[in-house]
Amino acid sequence: MDPVANPFAPGAGAPPPELAGRDELRETVRVAIERVRRGMPSKSVLMVGLRGVGKTVLLDRMRDNAEAGGIHTVRIEAPEGRSLPAMLAPELRQALLRLSRNEKAKDLAHRALRGLAGFAKALKLKFSDIEVGFDFDPEPGLADNGDLEHDLQALLEVVGAAAKKAEAALALFVDELQYVQEPELAALITALHRTAQRQLPVVLVGAGLPQLRGQMGRAKSYAERLFDFPMIGALPEPAARRAIEKPIQDQSASIDEDAFRLIVKETRGYPYFLQEWGKHAWDVASQSPITRDDVERGSKEAIVALDESFFRVRFDRLTPVEKRYLRAMAELGPGPHRSGDIADVLERKVSSLAPTRSQLIVKGMIWSPSHGDTAFTVPLFDEFMHRIIPGDEWKASP
Ligand SMILES: Nc1ncnc2c1ncn2[C@@H]1O[C@H](COP(=O)(O)OP(=O)(O)O)[C@@H](O)[C@H]1O
Ligand SMILES: [Mg+2]
Repeated sequence: MDPVANPFAPGAGAPPPELAGRDELRETVRVAIERVRRGMPSKSVLMVGLRGVGKTVLLDRMRDNAEAGGIHTVRIEAPEGRSLPAMLAPELRQALLRLSRNEKAKDLAHRALRGLAGFAKALKLKFSDIEVGFDFDPEPGLADNGDLEHDLQALLEVVGAAAKKAEAALALFVDELQYVQEPELAALITALHRTAQRQLPVVLVGAGLPQLRGQMGRAKSYAERLFDFPMIGALPEPAARRAIEKPIQDQSASIDEDAFRLIVKETRGYPYFLQEWGKHAWDVASQSPITRDDVERGSKEAIVALDESFFRVRFDRLTPVEKRYLRAMAELGPGPHRSGDIADVLERKVSSLAPTRSQLIVKGMIWSPSHGDTAFTVPLFDEFMHRIIPGDEWKASP
């Protein structure tokens, strides 16, 4: 069928034609933000899930909705290797400049901008990657101790006070939170705890890999009480159906029931895979309705496309030793697996593999669902490992 009209959108952060199955969570977050705006107690929401389940697109949609409702938002993605303050400072500045256009909030927004100037100056020593334009001179004593935990708290307090004056709220949307270093996470948690105690309208909506929950708990033991950690995962069948059928119908086409069934079987309902399968089934089909045969032919191309992008980007960043560890995991199946079993495959001691395992967790490739267990953070990664490193020669290498 006409590739120009193909509605599907596989790709990291690519908004899907139909954001299926997430209405309840969107409503939870809407309520949380509105409650915060009114000074009512409410928990920040941190969505956790594997790669490709739709965290980023959900976060973006929630942000759009919040903006449409008059909420001031900040959107950052924590990348590997940059500090949280460096990411946050320029975005906060933008939000404060917008807030300062509100007559009632103006004075406090300016004060917050002075706080931001002090914050950035004082932390420049520790976080040399902070780059932010200064609109005002710092106010001595305001968020300028040089200690992140203290200064972030002071800064979010003045920011919150400004948002409150505007009868608005500030919502921080932070993606890939698992990449934020623990002391920086701790500072963020403390600051949010403080604004919550003072009923200031500041709220965090975050997303990250499943290890985030444990990281937050280790950073501050009370994090579990301050945040909700909804798990987002594969779509249940009715939602998967909607994700596939709705976009096709919107193009005045249709798909056979057994074609749809095969897509669900091949993708296990994972959103990224649904997009990829939908796209390729559409492209290989010569006419509507899309048949089971189309999906079968499209499957091969969907897998090739995934291997070249979704799976490949992560694989290329691994050392040979790390690849071997993951290959050994794949040998045991989808997982989770016991560390001892993985070590047995590699004929090594668990302790000697510990550094490799830790590094893979830091890189966001694996996580530990419970003590001593290891699982992939990417769905169907075991099958990919078998395709990319076939046979068993890898066992022989050191
Ligand atoms: N609820 C959904 N319904 C249909 N497709 C979705 C849904 N959520 C995400 N997708 C698709 O899945 C892919 C991955 O989404 P993304 O937000 O990048 O995932 P994550 O951030 O969890 O890795 C994108 O192609 C997106 O269009
Ligand atoms: Mg993402």
